[in-house]
Amino acid sequence: MRFSVPHPIPYQGSKRRLAVAILSHIRARHYRRLIEPFAGSAAVTLAAAQKGIFSSYVIGDVLEPLIQLWQTVIENPGRIADQYEALWLQERANPIGAYYEIRREFNKDNDPAKLLYLLARCVKNAVRFNPSGEFNQSPDKRRKGTRPPTMKAELFAAHRLLKGKCRAISTDFLPLIQQAQQDDFFYLDPPYQGTSEGRDLRYIAGVSRQRMIEALAILNEKRVPFVLSYDGYCGNRKYGEPLPETIAHRILLDVGRSSQATLNGNHDVTLESLYVSHSILQNQKHTIYSLEDFTAQASLFNSLV
Ligand SMILES: C[S@@+](CC[C@H](N)C(=O)[O-])C[C@H]1O[C@@H](n2cnc3c(N)ncnc32)[C@H](O)[C@@H]1O
Repeated sequence: MRFSVPHPIPYQGSKRRLAVAILSHIRARHYRRLIEPFAGSAAVTLAAAQKGIFSSYVIGDVLEPLIQLWQTVIENPGRIADQYEALWLQERANPIGAYYEIRREFNKDNDPAKLLYLLARCVKNAVRFNPSGEFNQSPDKRRKGTRPPTMKAELFAAHRLLKGKCRAISTDFLPLIQQAQQDDFFYLDPPYQGTSEGRDLRYIAGVSRQRMIEALAILNEKRVPFVLSYDGYCGNRKYGEPLPETIAHRILLDVGRSSQATLNGNHDVTLESLYVSHSILQNQKHTIYSLEDFTAQASLFNSLV
């Protein structure tokens, strides 16, 4: 089975690997529009568009240059590919120094091409902002980031999937929820609670658990279905407080071990919660799925769409 989906924007926390499991909860094609209000690299939207599950897509994110980047991918991928190549080549003349220079410039002009370069070149492809809202992640000294020809191919492949079907909107997630319509389907992937409250604020913004609960209540009241990635476990450690059962059913996904954890000799299993709204769940209460199950689900999913 082959399920290869373009993924031009490298992004820590991307749901690329889980997209098939997430989409397997859409059993029938009676939804018109997929809305992904915490888009990041939009892995689930790209996977859904590859399979043509919805006729239109909305991706939102509070990080404005990221949304400008998506708008350019949708409208004019050649421009972003050329700009990326020019930035990537700057490092030949000035290894690492060029990274810090481009980062300084990005913090002044918020240029989306510079964000793409920084994401491709920084440690763990992870956005990190200081309290003043400046991008402050360091360069990855062992890897050079996606090579320009590969990046160009990925940008154009994503463009072909999204052109004419996808709107990218820079916004807080709540207005998208308030404007939800009957035949919409939501996939929500807010920052984990540990990165939204307290000291480890890694994204430009976060969402408190209480705000999340209130927003999901709006979707439930409108009977608009959703799937949400939220809390989870790594070994004995729990990250985030589970949401009340009245809001949605929780399914635990066994996402296995990261390659880094394996290298460190860490054998803890990571479980991620997937909350499925009451309007779509059938008989899957508190099931634990493993990545092998995903493959089975992927075959089912491929045969359905
Ligand atoms: C865990 S990441 C999403 C990753 C995404 N599912 C993917 O596959 O790449 C969370 C995203 O939510 C965005 N975000 C944080 N607070 C937000 C808010 N209040 N409204 C909208 N987006 C927000 C962050 O900028 C970040 O891109």
